[in-house]
Amino acid sequence: MSKSEQDQVREMLAEAGYSEKAIDYVLSREQIGVLEDADHSTLVKGPCGDTMRISLKLEGDKIKDAKMEVLGCPGAVASACAVIDLAKGKDLEEAEKIDLESLFKVVEKLPDQKVHCAKLALATLKRALREYKEKTGKGAEKEKAEAAG
Ligand code: FES
Repeated sequence: MSKSEQDQVREMLAEAGYSEKAIDYVLSREQIGVLEDADHSTLVKGPCGDTMRISLKLEGDKIKDAKMEVLGCPGAVASACAVIDLAKGKDLEEAEKIDLESLFKVVEKLPDQKVHCAKLALATLKRALREYKEKTGKGAEKEKAEAAG
């Protein structure tokens, strides 16, 4: 995209109610894509019909790398990028605590009608974490240890 095209997109998104930070995400898309060597990937389709696929690379319990593929609106792209930034470097338990409030601290502002896009990005992360824990038994081990005191 040329500089002037980027400026046009920036202006349009700002008028629609996106923060500068959200617009930077939409334009840079650094967190968007697929990890070829992912340990787990999950695809979720939102009620709007848009889809996100998250891929996670883990080292022990820690999310070493993550990317999100997005077929959706700019709200979905910005939210997906924020979720990836939040999840990277966290362990599974910390990543589960990422919520709408933490997402909005990063993305700052989306148009009101785009809050469901943020929820879709979060739901995708949460489902991936749940599936990964089920697949590897990681959550179960911890629960057992806690039950044993
Ligand atoms: Fe579907 Fe934004 S409109 S994710």
